[in-house]
Formats: sequence, structure tokens, C-alpha cells
Amino acid sequence: MADPGTASFLTRANALLRKNLTYQKRNIWSNFRLIMIPLYLCVLLVIIQVLVDTQFNNADENRCGCQCTVTNQNGKCVNKTCGLEFSTSDQALFCPISSPPRWPPLLQVPRPDSRAVRASFLPDIGLPDESCRRTRTCPVTLLFTGNNHSLGASLLGNLLPSSVAVNSTDPLQGLAYNVLGTEIEAGDTNYLDPGISLNLTIYNIQSRCISNAAFSFSFGEEPLKFKKELKCAQGLNLWRNNSREVNDMIFKGYRKGNSQGKTNEIAAAYDLLNTDRNNFNVHIYYNSTYKENSRNTPTTLLRLPRSVNMVSNAFLQLLQGPGTKMLFEYVKEVPKVETRLRLDIASLIGPLFFTWVILLLFPVILSSLVYEKQERLRIIMKMHGLGDGPYWMISYAYFLAMSTLYVICLMIYGSAIGLKFFRLNDYSIQFTFYFLYVNLQIALCFLVSSIFSKVKTLTVASYIYVFLSGLVGEFLLEFLIEDPSFSRGWIIVLELFPAFSLYRGLYEFGEFSFQGNLRGADGMKWKDFSDSAMDHVFLIIIVEWFLALTAAYYIDKMSSSGKGPLFFLKSPINKSPSLRRPSLQRQGSKVVVEMEKTDVTQEIEKVEQLMLEPSTSHAIVCDNLKKVYPGRDGNPPKLAVSGLSLAVPSGECFGMLGPNGAGKTSFINMMTGLLKPTSGTGLVRGLDICNDMDRVYTSMGVCPQHDLLWETLTGREHLLFYGRLKNLKGSDLIQAVEESLKSVNLFHGGVADKPAGKYSGGMKRRLSVAISLIGNPKVVYMDEPSTGLDPASRKNLWTVIKRAKQNTAIILTTHSMEEAEFLCDRLGIFVDGSLQCIGNPKELKGRYGGSYVFTMTTSSEHEGNVERLIQDVSPNAKKIYHIAGTQKFELPKEEVRISEVFQAVEKAKSNFTVFAWGLADTTLEDVFIKVARTGQAFNVFS
Ligand SMILES: *[C@@H]1O[C@H](CO)[C@@H](O)[C@H](O)[C@H]1NC(C)=O
Ligand SMILES: *[C@@H]1O[C@H](CO)[C@@H](O)[C@H](O)[C@H]1NC(C)=O
Ligand SMILES: *[C@@H]1O[C@H](CO)[C@@H](O)[C@H](O)[C@H]1NC(C)=O
Ligand SMILES: *[C@@H]1O[C@H](CO)[C@@H](O)[C@H](O)[C@H]1NC(C)=O
Repeated sequence: MADPGTASFLTRANALLRKNLTYQKRNIWSNFRLIMIPLYLCVLLVIIQVLVDTQFNNADENRCGCQCTVTNQNGKCVNKTCGLEFSTSDQALFCPISSPPRWPPLLQVPRPDSRAVRASFLPDIGLPDESCRRTRTCPVTLLFTGNNHSLGASLLGNLLPSSVAVNSTDPLQGLAYNVLGTEIEAGDTNYLDPGISLNLTIYNIQSRCISNAAFSFSFGEEPLKFKKELKCAQGLNLWRNNSREVNDMIFKGYRKGNSQGKTNEIAAAYDLLNTDRNNFNVHIYYNSTYKENSRNTPTTLLRLPRSVNMVSNAFLQLLQGPGTKMLFEYVKEVPKVETRLRLDIASLIGPLFFTWVILLLFPVILSSLVYEKQERLRIIMKMHGLGDGPYWMISYAYFLAMSTLYVICLMIYGSAIGLKFFRLNDYSIQFTFYFLYVNLQIALCFLVSSIFSKVKTLTVASYIYVFLSGLVGEFLLEFLIEDPSFSRGWIIVLELFPAFSLYRGLYEFGEFSFQGNLRGADGMKWKDFSDSAMDHVFLIIIVEWFLALTAAYYIDKMSSSGKGPLFFLKSPINKSPSLRRPSLQRQGSKVVVEMEKTDVTQEIEKVEQLMLEPSTSHAIVCDNLKKVYPGRDGNPPKLAVSGLSLAVPSGECFGMLGPNGAGKTSFINMMTGLLKPTSGTGLVRGLDICNDMDRVYTSMGVCPQHDLLWETLTGREHLLFYGRLKNLKGSDLIQAVEESLKSVNLFHGGVADKPAGKYSGGMKRRLSVAISLIGNPKVVYMDEPSTGLDPASRKNLWTVIKRAKQNTAIILTTHSMEEAEFLCDRLGIFVDGSLQCIGNPKELKGRYGGSYVFTMTTSSEHEGNVERLIQDVSPNAKKIYHIAGTQKFELPKEEVRISEVFQAVEKAKSNFTVFAWGLADTTLEDVFIKVARTGQAFNVFS
């Protein structure tokens, strides 16, 4: 088949994308459940809202009162009239008011027990004694200042009336001559003044109170008519020398301004500035703390107009004489239609639900990322040519598309089902907010996944994160946001926690839609962007997104290049291996080299030659490759591979034999880029494994010792994915996958289309081999490819590998001598980190096996006889094995004739009972045992 060439970025991206989509298709039910969660919660909110509407919003006490005018025979009401006259005062608010009542304009005055009196912290300037508080007769203080005292003094004289003025023909006009005051702040409309409707005293503020000055009066028109008693309160006008003093007094009198915790409030203050007869300039100080109780309740009206009118009237009288009056008769609200109570509970609890909905993606994305890392699928994909770049970009784009779809679904459900939360706020702000947040969330997943590596614990922890952050947001953050005395700076600090910035954004949406709905208006628009907290929430999200992405990228780079994420913290001394023990070992291996390793020396020479004049004929060249694991917990450093030199030409299968722990896997890990060599290097088709690993991967196939497969993907899908990574396309791809499936016996009986998680161990193994060979890689590493296979499959697999070998260099480790003999052109026996011998199987047998192996089993009392028998046949024979009557001897070939052995055995059989005996030529197994033993003999010190 033609060389498909290296896959482009797009091809690899496409491969990963298709694999991910297939993966999601397998998880269709859990995806469906996920996408239904927003729907469930939206429906739940709607149900709650419907309950609130029927029980509360539409309840009789929350609508204009009605009376039945016509009833039918059954006593059912058929016709009713509604209106103010049938309403309680609660219901009245909802009634249509075609002609709103007129109220006298009131002045806001402090409560009797907090009116200004003489105190240690205030200069004594004519304030009354504290004793007036007991009788509740403290005067209402007004402060004045200005550039011209004499002008100010005459103006003050006109400010407050000295007697009560009543006009019996037009009572309201008569009241306009008086200054009326109340302690309670106004409402948010003027349909009903709380100062009049509530059971509170109305003060008539006069310059002097004459005794029994109280009189009663009716306000408003039926049905909003209130009869009230007017009580005289003395007004006290105080002149201060300048505005700084006025300011000082207001400040000290305010409950938080002085250390005693006493209030000494004044009603209002006037700074007349440069007012003269031609100019009227005035600054009015008034109490505005009640203007907004908290940020989100509607602004109440201010009782400011009356104080403006008072000072204007006084100035007019100063100019024109006391006969001229500027009257302020009444205030009146505009007529209104019937209104309804519209409390949108869904907007208030929505933020909690939607925080959960959006955060729910966090565990989903995270577990998918960590799963690939935990199962080492990420690594194996990388080994088959999927670089970090495409992996990150495709994963990011993929999760982003998934998350975006998810939030769009949420918005669609919410709007379709009628939640004001979604309908009233501008869709573009909502979408931008969700979109930015899911970006941040994905970046966070990347960051967390690069630090942690266990799916189970992480999933549990992230679900806890989801639920707790929603609850803490609802019950703590919201409380703090609504507390105006809590520092805004600290709230921003709290919002740095990603889930809280999400909560804050949703909270703002909720507040805007709640208020919008209450007023029958829209929710948040872009023009409200900076009034709400949205501007800094957006900023926090964008900055955190950037930081998280950078950190994730950095940590991933560090860990994939073999360094720990905190590599810069480690002291350089730890990194360089201590040399004591390795040098001891090296001495050991040197002796072996001197003894008999001419083949190994030859290989070293060949490698040196190849390093000097690189040629492409050798696909794999390792030059003195070493790996030392640094010592941990006081143990000495471990030398895993000590100077391996090897050249494998294309078309050769090189078998690596060796006892467990000899360093074979370390070697393969180095060649596949999992580990960085401590020293030395390897060239794969001329590319350095230390620097050019990404390009090496494009022509490499790996069959790892443990099968690295996606449980839910089928065998065919695995092969399609890896085939695409190897740049196979269209019909070539289909054909290659079919052939590959057939060759490893996974084609028939629908096996290819079963998920890999259901495969038996042997089937998984065969699939792994097929994966490593798909797309004709130039270099293939197989770590024990045939373990766990039945003999038939094994034979089959061998033919596959044999066929694949033609233009590929294969390095294979195995414990099966049969396999090594069958597949490998050359063998190397690897003991304690170095090659003990190298050559083709025949050569090795010839070199190490210059002997026959004689085995005989007798009862144990005849062991001596057997030994004597062997002595006779072959004086230089060596006993290599002995257990309970069974003995094995090695007979040098040159001094033994087989016929002699037979004769000797026949003779022996007549002397004692021989249970069994045998004579065998050396096998590869004997060679292996022998080499392994000599190799290890030099390591008795370890
Ligand atoms: C202050 O006002 C009075 C009139 O009320 C005027 O006669 C006098 O000149 C003014 N004084 C100054 C310093 O402007
Ligand atoms: C009382 O009100 C009527 C009607 O507005 C007006 O004509 C009359 O002059 C007023 N009387 C006084 C004493 O102001
Ligand atoms: C205001 O200034 C006058 C003279 O400039 C002074 O006598 C008086 O004590 C001052 N009043 C106050 C309350 O400081
Ligand atoms: C302003 O009015 C509020 C509410 O009526 C009151 O609690 C507060 O003490 C007043 N502040 C001053 C400085 O008078």
C-alpha cells in the first residue's frame, strides 16, 4: 500500500472530532439526561411561580376589592363592581384611581427623641436642654448660613408661621399657610401618603407653640379620607457662621458621626451663599438616607419640595413684604389604571437553579478529560501522532460547542416555558455572559485535569463543588450583596471564586427581571451594563479565563516533557544521579563485555558508524541510551538502562528478551517518548527522540503492555480513529480497517462492532496489535503482544506481524521463546539494563548451546547412580538442575555421542528403576536462562 504521508493538522483534528462524536453518541442517554436537567429545573420554577401566582399574586387581598351586585339563584356572583370604595387600604393600592387625592406637602422631620439637643460633642449654640426629650417637646431644628447675616436673619423671620391659619371654605388652601411635618418617609408613589394614612402624628411647625394648639383636620377624599390631629411642634432656626460649621453639626449629630452613639438630627439646613435682593442662591441640606433602603428596592419619593417652597416663600416675602405669598397647596399623583401584584419568584430563586445547571457541565467535562489521562489514552493517542496542539484545540472547541449548545438549550427552554428571567433580559447580554462563563469553565477543567489524575475522587469532589457553590451563593453571597454596609471590595474578592462570579451574574439577571416584571418594564439591557455589577463580573471572567488557560498550558507542557509541574522548585543536586552504585554495576557489565560480548561490541561499533554518517537504512538507532531513576526516600538511584546501543534496519523484527525488571519497558518508554533518557539518545528515521518526538510520532505505532482502549468505542471505531490519525482517507481507510480487522480475527460475528469494554483479554490484545499496525507505520514497538492469546489466535497474530514487517522496523518484547524464534530476525537478551548478547536465534543457540541437556528422573536413593552414569559418558558434564529425584545435566557436544548415551541408559535401566529420561538439544529457553544467570551473577552486590 502507498505511504499515506503525514497527517495534516486538520486531518488529525477531524479524526479526534469524529472519535469524540462517536463517543458522545454512545453516551447518548447520559447526554440526553444532562440536557433534560435544565428543562426539569425550568419546569419546577414554572410550577413554583404558578403556585405563587394563585396563592399570592392573584389572591383577593392583593387585588382591587370588589362587591357582588348581581347573584343568581345558586348564590353565585354573576356581576360585580370593583373599586376603591369596596377595598381595604391594602387592596386600594391595586385599584384604578381616575382622580388621585390631593395631599398637603409634608416636611420630613426627625423623631422627637432624636431631634438635636445640647450635647458634649456639639458647640452650645442655643440648642435646648436634653430634658425636652422626656416630654417629647424638642424643637425641630433648621440651620442657616450665608454671606450676609443681616439678610439671613430677616429671611428667617418669614420662614415659619407664628400662628395656625385655617380657611373653612377651602381647607387645603388654608393648610398651605402652615408648615406640616412628619417623621415617616414618603412611599414610592403619592397615591397615598404614609405620613397621613398611618397612625402617626402630623406636626404643625410654628415659630412658637401656643398651648392647646392641637386641632384636627380631614385629608383626602372618600374613600381615601383620613381624619388627623395636627400637633404643634416648635421650629428652631439657628444661624451658623459658615457652611463648614453647618456641615460639622450635621455630621456630629448623625448617629454614626459621634462616639456616644446619640443622634442629634436636624430637619434641614440652608446655605444662602451670596443671596442679596437681586440674587437668590441657596443650597439645601436634606436627609437622603432613606432614599434607597437597599440597591434594589424602588426609589422612594423625597420630601424635599416643601423645604424648597419654604425658603422661596420667605425670600419673596423679604422682597415684597408679608402680604405676598407663594403657596404650595398640594401634591397629587397622576391618575392610574388597575394594577396587579407581580412578584416573579422564579427570578428570585432562578439564580440558584441556573448556577447548578451551568456548573453541572464542570464534572462532565472534567471526567471526560481526566478519564483519557487516567487510562493513558491521551499518551497513546500522542504516540500515534496526535500532537498536543490538535488535542487541546479540538477538545476545547468540542467542549465549547457542547457547552454552548447546552446554554442555548437552557435559554430556549426558559423562554419557551415563559420564565421572566430569560424573557425580560436582553438575550445578547445573557448569551454573552453564558458564553464567557462556559469558556472559563472549560479552561478551569483543563487546569484541574492537568493537576489531578483520578476520575473517581475528582468527580465526587466536583459534584460537591457544584452543589455547595450554588447554596453558598444563594444563602451567603446574596445576603452580603444585599447588605449595603458590606464592603463592595470584599464582594469582588469573593467573586474571584469562579462559581460566585457566575452566581453574581445570574443574580443580577434575576434582580433586573424581577424589578422589570414588577414595573411592567424590561429587564437588563446593554445600557444597564455598568449600573449592574455585570461589568466587573465580565472582567473577572475574562481575566480568569486567560490565566487558567495559560496555567493549564504551562502545567501540561511541563508534565508532558517529563518534568513535574513544580520542576523549578527541585534542587539541581537531586536531579543528577549519584554515581556510586551505577559505577559498581558498570564494572560488572564491563567484565561481561570482556568475556564474551563481542556481538554487543560489534553492535556498538555499528551504531557509532551510523551516528557519524547517518543513513536512512536503519529505522531505529539507539546510541548509548541510559536511564537512571533518581533515588527516593533515601534509596540509592536506580539504574534501569545502562548504555544501550542498538541499530534496527527497516524490515527487521528485533526481539528483546529479558527477565522481569530488566529494563525493557523503560527502554520502550524512552523510545516512545514517555520517559526522557538520562543520557544518550535515539534516532528514529534520522529524527532525535529527545527533540523531535512530535515528528517521530507521525510514523510510529505502539502496542503497549496494557491495552489502552475506550470502553465504549467499538473495535472498528478505534481503528478508524487511529487510521485517520495516520492520514488514511476515504476508501483507503475503510479498506485498511477491514483488512486489519480480518487479519486479527475480529471481523466475523459482529465482534468489530461491539464496544471494546465487552471484549475478552485476548480480543483486546489483538485490537491493540491491529491499532499499532494500522496505516503502515515505519517503526512499531510491541510490548508483549501475544500475552493471553489462545494458540490459534497467536499463530494468526504472528502471520500479521510477519507480514507487517516488510517495510517496518519492529521492536518486540516477549517472554515466549517460541514467538521470538518465529518472528524475530535478531534477538537481544537484556539483563539488568544492558544487552548481554545479540544475534539471530540460530547463532545464539549455536554460541550458547554447545551442549545437550540430559534429564533423568529416578527415586531419590538412585541419584548417585545417575551421577556416576553421566560421569562415565561425559566427564565434563555439569549438573544444572536437581529436585526430588529429577536431575538435569549439560553434556558438552564434542565429548558425547548420542548412541553412547542410549546404551548407558539401557544398562542403567536394568540396575535401577528409571521413571523417565530424555536427551534434548539446547533450546532458546536454555540460552535465555543461561545468559540471564551469567548477567545477574555480577549483581550479587545489589
Ligand atoms: C446685607 O443685606 C442688607 C439688606 O438685607 C444690605 O443692606 C447690606 O448691604 C448687605 N450687606 C452686605 C455686606 O452685602
Ligand atoms: C379661603 O379660601 C377661599 C377660596 O379659595 C378664598 O376665596 C378666601 O380668600 C380664603 N380666605 C382666607 C382667609 O384666606
Ligand atoms: C460667629 O462669628 C461672630 C463674630 O465673627 C462670633 O462672635 C460668634 O461667636 C460666632 N458664632 C459661632 C456660633 O461661632
Ligand atoms: C435620615 O432619616 C433616616 C430615616 O428617616 C434616619 O434614620 C436618619 O437618622 C436620618 N439621618 C439624619 C442625619 O438625620
